[in-house]
Amino acid sequence: MKRHAEEQDEHLHKARKSENTSSPHGRPAAFRVHPATRFEGKFPFYRQPKDIGCFSLDADRFFYNDKSQLKWLYMPENVNKVNFNLRHGYKVFRKRDDSVKDYIDDLLRWILVNRKKFLLPGQDEVCDGAFPPNLHTDFVCWRGLLTKLLCTPYENKDGWLIGVTKFNGTYYMCEYDTPEKIAERETMSERQDEMCYWGYKFEQHMVAAKPDSQPDTCVPVSNYEAFCLVVRGRLKEHSLVFAGETDCYDTKEKCYVELKTSREIYQPNQDRNFKRFKLIKWWAQSFLPAVPKVICGFRDDDGVVRQLKTYRTLDMPNIAKDIPNPWDPAVCMNFCDQFLTFVKQVVRKDDPKIVYMFKWYPRQDITWTEHPQDSKFTFLPSWFTDPDQQGNSGSKLETSASS
Ligand code: A3P
Ligand code: MG
Repeated sequence: MKRHAEEQDEHLHKARKSENTSSPHGRPAAFRVHPATRFEGKFPFYRQPKDIGCFSLDADRFFYNDKSQLKWLYMPENVNKVNFNLRHGYKVFRKRDDSVKDYIDDLLRWILVNRKKFLLPGQDEVCDGAFPPNLHTDFVCWRGLLTKLLCTPYENKDGWLIGVTKFNGTYYMCEYDTPEKIAERETMSERQDEMCYWGYKFEQHMVAAKPDSQPDTCVPVSNYEAFCLVVRGRLKEHSLVFAGETDCYDTKEKCYVELKTSREIYQPNQDRNFKRFKLIKWWAQSFLPAVPKVICGFRDDDGVVRQLKTYRTLDMPNIAKDIPNPWDPAVCMNFCDQFLTFVKQVVRKDDPKIVYMFKWYPRQDITWTEHPQDSKFTFLPSWFTDPDQQGNSGSKLETSASS
């Protein structure tokens, strides 16, 4: 019976694969996303992801191979009676210039410093002569990129652009801003900019710098500092290493916690929107690295949080089930699996300077273009790909490597 089901599944998988249009070079030219029902089926194998390290970025965005920026959850005693005014301090917000692109340099710095973590069991040193060594990993990227992939079958507003470079057998993926995203940022109103600040101010109310200390809400909020977890996971035949900024650690439950804000919910349509558009993103973001819970501060239109609510990551799909046509986590994961297979079919040349750009807009197929060496999209830095440039990785990489 099980075998029969597997055969059917395999048959269906092949049938779906052939729905993608082929280019003359034998590579699929496009990947069909819609309708999302194409990806229905059983939840694919996703191995329990494991933390394999972490890094910190300080107030100057210098890289440290340590937990120095880890923050500790501070849970107020009465979650139904808090009073956080998130508008406080907006004028002195130390805000990063988000038009300056991040690429994946910090993750690459972490890989270089921790290259021994990629050796196979029994392999005691880097022996294949390659630099950096073979990572025995299919995909390397930021967690945020995977979150976007998981949400794609249900996304109807924002498209994405993903650059992929194959180097020493590993597919490095890097997100680029779409022209629409750039335009949105450039035309953002003061009110929208302030509302972005609220999320960071909320974090400040909920975390302490040490396990036994209290939040300090008098200092200006800054979004320069970051603590990032590096995680290894496997989705069917794809091994993944990804890093994601992680808000805090809960010493009571011994787990990492994600913090969010959301508008107080009074109307049925607000409830439906929360479940359809927010919960899917929260689920995808936290499910990927196995962060078990999200604490949400519900705020009013004046930026005041009066209530906190904890959502278990694994409960989120069930919570969202009572809306019409709810999102299905199996669709998200099957889509991601099949997209990664598509990337492996398309990206043939193993060359650190060639970028394959994958483009998607809501209601459309995913298409791709190949960009030659040293195009404006090349994103792997020479300090990562060239042994002679190793010392030029910037920041405090070499001095912090031993910590
Ligand atoms: P909220 O999540 O409470 O909205 P994260 O939740 O991923 O840790 O991000 C922390 C805060 O950064 C968010 O708080 C929000 O204020 C801001 N933020 C994150 N992603 C954003 C985006 N794409 N656009 C604008 N603000 C964003
Ligand atoms: Mg958060």
